[in-house]
Amino acid sequence: MNKNLDRNKLPKHVAIIMDGNGRWAAKNGLQRISGHDSGVKSVQEIVEEALDLNIPYLTLYAFSTDNWNRPQHEIGVLMNLLVKYLKSEFNKLIKNNIRLNTIGNISALPKLVQDEVKRVSEKTKNNEKMVLTIALSYGAREEIEDVVKKIALEVKNNTISIENVDQSIINRHLYTRNLPDVDLLIRTSGEQRLSNFLLWQIAYAELYFTKIYWPDFGKKDLHEALLNYQNRERRFGKTSEQINV
Ligand code: FPP
Repeated sequence: MNKNLDRNKLPKHVAIIMDGNGRWAAKNGLQRISGHDSGVKSVQEIVEEALDLNIPYLTLYAFSTDNWNRPQHEIGVLMNLLVKYLKSEFNKLIKNNIRLNTIGNISALPKLVQDEVKRVSEKTKNNEKMVLTIALSYGAREEIEDVVKKIALEVKNNTISIENVDQSIINRHLYTRNLPDVDLLIRTSGEQRLSNFLLWQIAYAELYFTKIYWPDFGKKDLHEALLNYQNRERRFGKTSEQINV
């Protein structure tokens, strides 16, 4: 544990865009697939560390709606890795009191992945130390589109009136309805963009970009990101003086 890290000032919700698996593989003279394989090891290490630090919400971007455009073979490998991860980590999730949650268009996933996601989500649904959310076939614009459709239908059916549509109603229709806003968003691999991830939920998040490729991202790198977060002043529109009274 990094001695400079203040355990009382940790973010409640950390979200990560795990990027750079392919470039990590190329750098090491390996096939892209090996990059994803090694990426799973980073997932295991970061989940464990977040748990040790008592971070209650961790959200990982594992597969975006745009990732469907990748070669079929790579999509297949990623789907198999997800199933393998859920099967191999199941006991650890139970033992460590972690709830598995997913966001995204789960029905677009192969049946095998859907079944495993449903099984693990169901068996861990009462766990409460940490909520591990995996974004699968996820896109923030698609999520917002879904929210608009759901609310429009409720207005049409007179379940809610248009005057009552506000931010809390929108929050309650998002895939993340059971999660707090993101406090810290991390993206690995040096890219500095959001790639359609949690656009509504990161309105006030601190953004942290690191050049490290995801398979090389370990617990000391997480500590560095958290330390950086702790040195930011979160003002939510107020002045520095108002925050520091
Ligand atoms: C981005 O790297 C990574 C992905 C698209 C997939 C992330 C998946 C994993 C880490 C493994 C499975 C996940 C879980 C939760 C078990 P990239 O392929 O875009 O890398 P590149 O930009 O260097 O090509």
